[in-house]
Amino acid sequence: VLQRVQPVLQPLRLSLDKLRDVSSRLHKGLVQGLGKHSHHRAAVKMLPTFVRATPDGTEKGDFLALDLGGTNFRVLHVRVLQAEQKVVKMDSQICVVPKDMMTGATQQLFDHIASCLGDFIASQELKGQTLPLGFTFSFPCEQKEIDKSILIRWTKGFNCPGVEGRDVVTLLRDAVRRRGDYDIGSVAMVNDTVGTMMSCGYKDQSCEIGMIIGTGTNACYMEEMKNVKRVEGEDGRMCINTEWGGFGDDGSLRDIQTEFDQMVDKTSINPGVHIFEKMISGMYLGEIVRLLLLRLSEEKLLFKGQKSEVLQTPEIFQTKFISEIEEEDTGLDNARRILTQLDLQWDEADVRVVRLVCDTVSSRSARLCAAALATIANKMRLNRGLDRLQTTVGVDGTVYRKHPNFSEELQLTVRLLAPECSITFLVSEDGSGKGAAMVTAVAQRLCVLFPCLHFLIKSYMSDLKNE
Ligand code: BGC
Repeated sequence: VLQRVQPVLQPLRLSLDKLRDVSSRLHKGLVQGLGKHSHHRAAVKMLPTFVRATPDGTEKGDFLALDLGGTNFRVLHVRVLQAEQKVVKMDSQICVVPKDMMTGATQQLFDHIASCLGDFIASQELKGQTLPLGFTFSFPCEQKEIDKSILIRWTKGFNCPGVEGRDVVTLLRDAVRRRGDYDIGSVAMVNDTVGTMMSCGYKDQSCEIGMIIGTGTNACYMEEMKNVKRVEGEDGRMCINTEWGGFGDDGSLRDIQTEFDQMVDKTSINPGVHIFEKMISGMYLGEIVRLLLLRLSEEKLLFKGQKSEVLQTPEIFQTKFISEIEEEDTGLDNARRILTQLDLQWDEADVRVVRLVCDTVSSRSARLCAAALATIANKMRLNRGLDRLQTTVGVDGTVYRKHPNFSEELQLTVRLLAPECSITFLVSEDGSGKGAAMVTAVAQRLCVLFPCLHFLIKSYMSDLKNE
């Protein structure tokens, strides 16, 4: 049976040569996204973040942080301790974002955010203080200033009509004003990749890449200003939010998209966009496995050709099942439990085939991420004219953290694809929370030390050219 299963899985197996090819396509995409005149048609958006400095260890103070990017919304009170070079979470609160709110009216979503923040401020006895606020908003945004961030598009199951094209900070401030019982101070908008890079950066100052492989996927890195053609200035570096999830939206990954990827895309709430993300991230991996299992049972290679009603329910196969089934010691037992739960009649051969399917899908994800990360590392090395680049990547996300061998496969493949780069991987401790505080703290440090720099940054930001 295993032999007859292989041809179905073959299109998901990407050779090193294919990955090199994908990497060189992504490299072209990165350059196109950075270009002044090519940016508007680029699939990989390469968004300037206006973060020009990573932490230097002198940052300090108290901050509020908001984190919206998945099904939960979090509010945090964070303290940055200079003496211990530590970011301490003082307290936090989680508010669930109900599924209908993720696709409902804009005002309802932002009123919910403002109300969670209000409750938290009251419970922390912070009313009357206006602490600077870092807002981790993990969606592609065109940042005009550190506190002006226009949503380009929703991803990851969110789709509130009317937010795309609008400034998220204004929407937040309006919602706070509608309540009228508290106020917020200066706001720094942060993508979760940037938060991740910055939270690791306090510990390891060579951390210049942030990567997320969770519900969605994305990375940011420090790019030379001279290559960031849409922002004035040639000196120094700026953190670029690549939004690599959009790679392939121009059709450039058509040859490696399988029929299962196409089906996942077609039935998603945003067909045609974030094609790379849909091959990689936690929101979609389980569904790819489910479609493969259905196909294999149709071909009588699984479950004696019987598929249960349950397995025919979209999204019933959760991505966390993949991790559980691939667990070294308990995996096969987990598979038996999960297949029974899905009302399937299985035998021992089925259990092994299901494990092989999970391994094929998660392994492709790890290898594609590796190709993308290698592209960035190679670009940074060439940018700097180095024979060898030594750098650290701050990483976060459930797929990277929870899957038993995802990180190992990713790291191994990056070493093969970027042999001139020595990359240290640092799992971030709450990048979306503490990292947002860190971005705000660095922005504050620059303002405190050089008040004129603040002015400079502001004017740089307004130099972002309208195309
Ligand atoms: C978003 C990114 C985000 C990533 C990881 C993607 O869907 O477009 O902005 O960084 O998910 O959360």
